[in-house]
Amino acid sequence: MESYSPDVLISEEDIALRLEDLGRAITEDYQGQELVVICVLKGAFMFCSDLIKKIELPIKLEFISLSSYGDGTSSSGNVVLDMDISSSIAGKNVLVIEDIVDTGLTIKTLNEMLLVRKPKSLKLASLLFKPSRNEHPAKIDYLGFEIEDKFVIGYGLDYAGRYRELPYVGVLNAGN
Ligand code: PRP
Repeated sequence: MESYSPDVLISEEDIALRLEDLGRAITEDYQGQELVVICVLKGAFMFCSDLIKKIELPIKLEFISLSSYGDGTSSSGNVVLDMDISSSIAGKNVLVIEDIVDTGLTIKTLNEMLLVRKPKSLKLASLLFKPSRNEHPAKIDYLGFEIEDKFVIGYGLDYAGRYRELPYVGVLNAGN
C-alpha cells in the first residue's frame, strides 16, 4: 500500500485543547437552552463529532451537505446543496459547525439559506479561518485557529476526497 505523511500544521493535542475552550464557551453562552447543531458535510464531520462531546447542553444534531470545490484546490464559485437538514429550525438556537471558512462563499450561502427559516439565533463555529482568501466576511462566533494561505488537509478536510481521516490538520509536502 502507498504510504504518505503530510506535515503536521495543527497537532491532535492542540486541536483537543482548543476544543475544550470552545466547548466551554458554547456551554456558557447557551446555558439552560437547547441547541440545534448543524454539521456541514463532509469536511466538518470530525470537528463536529469531537466538539459536541465538549458541549454540556441538550443538542439536536442535523447534517447538511454543501459543496463548492469539486476535486480541485480552488473554489468553483458556486455552492450546491447536496442534502438538506431534516427538521424545522424555526424558533431554535442554531449553531452551524464548519471545518473551514476560506473565501466565505459557503457560509454566506448557508446563512442566507438558514435565516429565511427564522431560527431564534444563528451562530457559527469553525475549526479554521483563512483571512488571506476571505471575500465574503462572516462572523465566526467560535473559531479554532486562524491559518495562513496553505492548502490544508486532515481532520475532516480533503484533497480530492483523500486525507479526511487524519487526526491532525496537515499540509501536503513533496512526498505526497
Ligand atoms: C469546503 C469546506 C467549507 C468550504 C469553505 O467544503 O468544508 O464548507 O469548502 O470554502 P469557502 O469558504 O471558500 O466557501 P467543500 O466544498 O470542499 O466540501 P466538503 O466539505 O465536502 O469537502
